[in-house]
Amino acid sequence: MADDLIAVKTEIAAKAHVNTDRHRAMTEAAAKDPEGFWREQSGRVAWMKAPTKIKSVDFTGDVSIRWYEDGVLNASVSCLDRHLDTRGDQVAIIWEGDDPNSDVKVTYRDLHARVCRLANGLRELGVKKGDRVCIYLPMIVEAAVAMLACARVGAIHSIVFGGFSADSLASRIQDSECSVLITADEGRRGGRKVPLKTNADDALATCPSIRHVIVAKNTGGSVPMQAGRDVMWDDLCAKQPATCEPEPMGAEDPLFILYTSGSTGKPKGVLHTTGGYMVWASYTHELVFDYRPGEIYWCTADVGWVTGHTYIVYGPLANGATTLMFEGVPNYPSVSRFWEVVDKHQVNIFYTAPTAIRSLMRDGEAPVKKTSRASLRILGSVGEPINPEAWLWYYRVVGDERCPIVDTWWQTETGGILISPLPGAVAQKPGSATLPLPGVFPALVDGEGKVLDGATEGNLVLLDSWPGQMRTIYGDHARFGQTYFSTFKGMYFTGDGARRDKDGYYWITGRVDDVINVSGHRMGTAEIESALVAHPKVAEAAVVGMPHDLKGQGIYCYVTLKSGEEPTDALRKELVAWVRKEIGPIASPDAIQWAPGLPKTRSGKIMRRILRKIAANETDGLGDTSTLADPGVVQELIENRVR
Ligand code: WT7
Repeated sequence: MADDLIAVKTEIAAKAHVNTDRHRAMTEAAAKDPEGFWREQSGRVAWMKAPTKIKSVDFTGDVSIRWYEDGVLNASVSCLDRHLDTRGDQVAIIWEGDDPNSDVKVTYRDLHARVCRLANGLRELGVKKGDRVCIYLPMIVEAAVAMLACARVGAIHSIVFGGFSADSLASRIQDSECSVLITADEGRRGGRKVPLKTNADDALATCPSIRHVIVAKNTGGSVPMQAGRDVMWDDLCAKQPATCEPEPMGAEDPLFILYTSGSTGKPKGVLHTTGGYMVWASYTHELVFDYRPGEIYWCTADVGWVTGHTYIVYGPLANGATTLMFEGVPNYPSVSRFWEVVDKHQVNIFYTAPTAIRSLMRDGEAPVKKTSRASLRILGSVGEPINPEAWLWYYRVVGDERCPIVDTWWQTETGGILISPLPGAVAQKPGSATLPLPGVFPALVDGEGKVLDGATEGNLVLLDSWPGQMRTIYGDHARFGQTYFSTFKGMYFTGDGARRDKDGYYWITGRVDDVINVSGHRMGTAEIESALVAHPKVAEAAVVGMPHDLKGQGIYCYVTLKSGEEPTDALRKELVAWVRKEIGPIASPDAIQWAPGLPKTRSGKIMRRILRKIAANETDGLGDTSTLADPGVVQELIENRVR
C-alpha cells in the first residue's frame, strides 16, 4: 500500500483556518477541556437563547446523548436570516441542471423568501412542530427549500433518495408516520426521466398517515393529482407571505430522520437533533474544506444521503457559502461534465465519491485535461475507502498536484466528518483518512473490546461523543443501544474495521458487519435477502459483497429455488428486476448464483464468511469448515461460482 507522505502545501497552510500548530492546540484543548472547547464552537450558530449546559453524555445503560440542551435555536435562521444583512445578495445556491444549458442562481435573500413561503404553506396544511414530513425529490433547488422550510416550522424531515422504489418509500413513510409528502412530477438524470409522482402514488396506497402531497413542477410532465390530498407547490406558495416566524427549537429537538441500512432487514431511522448537528455541520465544513467567504463549493452527492444533508445544505449555508447543487451525473452528456461544471462556475472546492473517480479514470486523462480546473483549490473524497491508485489519479490528473485531497471518513450516524486531514495541517497519504478532527476520539479494539495501542488493526470505535452524533433510532431507542453500544461496552461501535500505522494514521478497511458499500451507497445484505425470498420461486437466499472494480463492492446473491423451479437465465433476469422493484435500482444484483444448498452450521446458521470468500474467488483460504452440517455444498458452490 502507498505510504508516502504528501506534505502540507505552504501556500495552503499560510492562509488556512487551521495550520499544524493550531491543529495540535485544538486537539489538546478539546481533550483537556471539552466543555470549554465546545462552548466556544457553539458560537458558530445563531441561538435564540445561548446554551449554558454544554455536554451530557452516557454511553452506558440506556445511552443518553445531549449537547447544548438548554439552548434554543432554529436551523433555518442559522442558514438564512443571519446572512441577510451581510450577504443577502450573494448567491447561496448555484443549481446546475442535468441539461448543460440549464442553470439557476438563488441568492440568500431569494432562498429565505422561498423557504418562508413554503414554511407558511406547510403551516396552512396543518404541519406543526414535531410532525414528520417526507421529502422525495430530485436534485432541484426545491429539495433544499423543503428541508429548510421543515426546519423553520419545527417539522422533522425524512428524505428518501429518489432512486428508491415505491415500496422502499412506503416503508420509510410508515415507520415515522409522516403526515405530508413533498415530491415532484418527475426527476431527470443523465437525459432520462424518473417517475417520482407515479412512484409516490404507488407508495401512498399503503401510507394512511399522509394527509397532503405537495408536488413541485420540474419537468412539467403531466401527473395525476388526487383532489383534496395533492396540491401543486406553486399553488400552495403563491399566496403565502415571504416572511415566516421561525419555530423556537430546543437544541435537542429533532431536525431530521434519515433511514440507513444495518445488518437487519429493516432500515433504521437515524435521528439527528438541532443544536449539536448544526455546530458539527458548520465546524467540519469550515475546517475540512478550509472554506473561505466568497468561495464556490461543490459537493456532488444527492440530498437523499447524509452527505447531501450536511455538505450541500446545512454546513455550507450555515457558513454563508455558495453551494453548488448538481442534478445530473458525471458522464452526461460527456465524461468531461464534472470538469466543465468546475470551469463554468469557477468551483474552488470539489467533493465527490471514489466510485465517480474510478469510473472517470477508465476514460483516461484527455477528457479532464481539455478543461482548465484552475479555480480548484481543495478536493475531497467520501463514502468508501479510496484506493491509492484512484487517489493518485485524482491528485495528479484532476488537481494537477496543486490541490490537497481530504479523504473524509464518517457515517450517517456521525452527522458529519470525524476522520480527515485538514488541508493546511495534516500531510496526506494516498488511501488514508489520516487523523481524527480535534474533539474526536477514535480507538481500535479487539474482539473483546480491549483498546489496542500503537500501529495495529481492529474494530473502529469512538470513545466519547461529539456534538453531531445521532441521538437515537426513531421510535426504537432500545435498538439504538443494542446496535451501537452493546458490542463494546461504553463505546460507540462504527461497524468498520481499520488499521492504524506508525504515524497514527487511520486506514479504513471496510465494514465488519453485514453491510456492504456499493458505489458509496450503503446496503444491508439482509434487506436484499428479504427482497429475494419474497419472490414466489425463491426458497432461500444469502447475499454478500464481492470486490468490484468500479463500485468498490458488488452484490453477489446465492439463491436456492423452491423444489420444482427451473434455474433459467430468464428467471435470473426476473430476480434482478424484482430486487430493483422491491428496493430500487441501486440494489441491482451483480451476480446471482444458483445454490442447491447453502453452507450452514449444525445449528442452521449460514456461514457468510465462506460465501464471501467464494464470491471473491479466494477459495484457497476458506478456513475452518469442520463445523459445517454438510461440507459438500461448499465444493459445489466453488465449482459453479459466477465469473
Ligand atoms: C460507511 C458509512 C459518510 C457519508 C456517506 C456514507 C464507509 C464512508 C469513508 C471513507 C472509507 C468510508 C464506511 C462507513 N465510508 N466514508 N472516507 N473511507 N470508508 O455514509 O451511507 O452512512 O456509510 O461508509 O464503511 O461506515 P453511510
